[in-house]
Formats: sequence, structure tokens, C-alpha cells
Amino acid sequence: MEKIVIDGGRPLRGTIHCDGAKNAALPILIATLLAPGEHRLTNVPELADTSSTLSLLGRMGCPSLVHDDALRVDATRIAFCEAPYDVVRKMRASVLVLGPLLARCGEAKVSLPGGCAIGTRPIDQHLKGLEALGCRFELSGGYIHGIAPALKGAEIHLDMPTVTGTENILMAAVLASGTTRIHNAAREPEVTDLVRFLRTLGAKIEGDGTSTLTIEGVSRLTPASRPYSVVGDRIEAGTYLCAAAITGGDVEVTGCDPALLESTVAKLREAGCTLTVGEQSVRLQRDTPLQAFNARTEPYPGLATDMQAQLMSLACLARGTSRIEETIFENRFMHAAELTRMGADVQHTGRIATVVGVPTLQGAAVMASDLRASAALVLAGLASEGLTEVLRIYHLDRGYHDLVGKLRGVGARIARTSDAITDRSELSAALDAAA
Ligand code: EPZ
Repeated sequence: MEKIVIDGGRPLRGTIHCDGAKNAALPILIATLLAPGEHRLTNVPELADTSSTLSLLGRMGCPSLVHDDALRVDATRIAFCEAPYDVVRKMRASVLVLGPLLARCGEAKVSLPGGCAIGTRPIDQHLKGLEALGCRFELSGGYIHGIAPALKGAEIHLDMPTVTGTENILMAAVLASGTTRIHNAAREPEVTDLVRFLRTLGAKIEGDGTSTLTIEGVSRLTPASRPYSVVGDRIEAGTYLCAAAITGGDVEVTGCDPALLESTVAKLREAGCTLTVGEQSVRLQRDTPLQAFNARTEPYPGLATDMQAQLMSLACLARGTSRIEETIFENRFMHAAELTRMGADVQHTGRIATVVGVPTLQGAAVMASDLRASAALVLAGLASEGLTEVLRIYHLDRGYHDLVGKLRGVGARIARTSDAITDRSELSAALDAAA
């Protein structure tokens, strides 16, 4: 397996371009199942999760290939209406096939996703909404079997603004007869991007960006005549802004609409950084000490839970004590113990973490536990004295394309190596070779 090695302490300077958003690309790729024919997509990020999604579509009879700079997905025929355990256990977003399969094929067999490092992550709201549309489910052998002879529009009230729950129900409702209203719907930009994509297929949806989505069902959907471009990744953008902040650098991040980053930009300003917002770019400069801040994650447009770990790394080196509250997931502080091993002072009970800033962090071998925790450990390594090794970086590859190359491009001394290399001179040689 591979690991990342970092020789920290270098301020990052330059420009980083963000790719398309993972959490928009996944539902949009799966939404192609709704419309028979060939779909063309651009700005789809090259990630482990997008490859997993394309291989799942392939196993269902919908092959894909890249041609003329567009990703083409052929959803003409669906041979298997199933998302098997070996796929879902690696990528829980595969449960998003439920809505499209029930809408197009009238049936679906999907492995229950189970929990993950950051929480139990049930899908009761997905099932409640789909049942309101007329689906019937039974659970056997760890799989949910859904049957939907005829989907009918309904009033659906979600208990919480679940992102993929909203997306699953939305993708079924677009082909249901009559009107569906989803109340307390998620407002994340990735949900809005899915709505925009569905509209290009002929779906009739109102209310994107608000808490109520109104869908007028149609009898069939067809692939768009032009390629659809996936929205830029606001979490990737926020992560690289944090890299500039934690190293005291000057980095411009391009490829993402700054309007989608407002809560992160505000928090970074509070932490003592100077941020300049452009058309499709945000620049962060920091040449004064980081200041402690309080942060509370919330559904969009609040501060994204997917930015919490990265901001915690920043707080470790800020002057004063920061308080971070994680309101979305029950176990999303796994990075705290690893940061402590680098010299940070982080205590947490339940959903509240208290971070007392320290003058420096020391490089160490640390273990990634989930996608954003891995990013947080890389950020801490970039600002630490000495070598940091981040293990289990398969977590990172799920959501960040070429993170090492992008960071090296702005001056980081960073490389990917085999996790069998432990000798310091060999690690330094790997860093020299990558420079
Ligand atoms: C999406 O996960 C994202 N994943 C997550 O990104 C993100 O952290 C999360 O939304 C919150 O923004 C994708 O879009 C593929 P939720 P999702 O349903 O949809 C509870 C990353 O790092 N809940 O909005 O699974 C749930 O347990 C990943 O890119 C129920 O109780 O999140 C959680 O506490 C991590 N029942 C809360 O709601 C349900 O039926 C929000 O979860 C559904 C959710």
C-alpha cells in the first residue's frame, strides 16, 4: 500500500485548480440511469469513487468511456437492477441507485450500506420518501429489495435535510405521475447541480437551493443534446485554502464558484487570513499569526461538515482556544487523536472539540481514518517541523485527484511512497526524487 510523506514548514505559493465536485459527480453519473441513450459529461473528477461508480454502472449494463474530452455513459439498457455488497461497502453513495432503478425499472436490489468511520449513517429517510412515492421494500440477507409498480407523486417531509436522501427521492420523483414536494430538502450546491442536470434530461423541478423541491413527474427522460459540466468542488477548494492558511502562504484556488464557499471564507477570515474573491477563484494570503475561532458545522449554507477536520488542523496552530462543534455526524473527530500525536492539544467529548493552539507541530507517522480526516493530517504535516507520514491514503484517493501533485505545484515538499519504506534517508530520497 502507499503512504504520503511530507517534509513540512514551507509556505505554499502559487495557483491550484480544483476539479469537479465528487459529491455532485456521483449522483449525476447515477442519474444517467433515468434516461435511455448516451450521456456526455465534462469536469467529472478522476477519483476512486467516480471509477467505482462507473464500474457499478458497467456491471448494470451501462458502459462508459472517455471520448473527445467528454465522459460518455451509455444508459440505453439496464441489464441488472442491483448494487452488490462488495461495491456498496466501499462506497455508500451507491445507495443512490435506488431512486433511478425504481423509477426506470420498477425494482431495485441494493446492499444496505452499513455504518462507516464517521457514523451509523442510516438511510431511513431515503426509504420513507421512496415508500411515500409507492415503493415497497423488504430486507433480506443484508439487501433491500424494492418494488415500485407505479410511482405516484406525494408530499414528503424529511426529518433532516439529508443530502443523498433528497437526491434519491428526487431521482424517483422525476418519473412519478403527478406532483411531488420534498420538504426540508437539502440545499447543498451538489443537490442543485443534480437538479440542473436532471432538467437537461427534461425533468420538471422547481425550488433548487431552497428547502422545498417541487417536481412535476414526466413519462420519460432523454439524454441532453450537449455535454453537462459538473460544478467545481467547494470542499476541495476549501481544503487547499486551508493548506495556504496553515503554512502562512499565498495561494489562489481556481475552478470553483466562490459563492459556494462563503461560510469557509468567513471562517478563514476570522482565523486571521486575507481572502480575495474573484469570478471563479479565491486567493488566500497569511503573513500574521493564526487566530483561534469557534466553528459549528451545519447543513448548507452553514459551515460544511466536510470542512471540519481541515479547520481543526488550522486551529491546532492558532493563538488561543478554539471550540468546534460537529452537529451532522456523531463520530467525526477521528483525526483529533492523530493530531495530538503531532503535538496538538485537542480534547473532545461528544460533538464538541476544544483545541488549545500550540506554537508548533512535530512531524509523525499518522493514520488516516476517513476522507476528510486524511486531508486534515496532510495539512498538519505541511505545517509541521520534520517528516510526517500519512498512512492508509486510499481514503484520500476517494475524494482528491492528484493532491500530492497539486501541493507540490505550490512548493510543498511531498511525495507518495510505498508504506514499506521507513528509513528516513530513503524517505528523504523519495522526496528529492519527487521534487
Ligand atoms: C453527503 O453524505 C456527502 N456524501 C457527505 O460527504 C457529507 O458529509 C454529507 O452529505 C453531509 O453534507 C455524498 O454526497 C456522496 P446526510 P450523506 O444524509 O448524504 C443522518 C465526504 O466527505 N441521516 O446528509 O450520507 C445521517 O446519519 C462525504 O465527501 C439519517 O439519520 O449525509 C447524518 O447524521 C462524507 N437518516 C445526517 O443525517 C437518513 O436516512 C446527514 O447525513 C439519512 C441521513
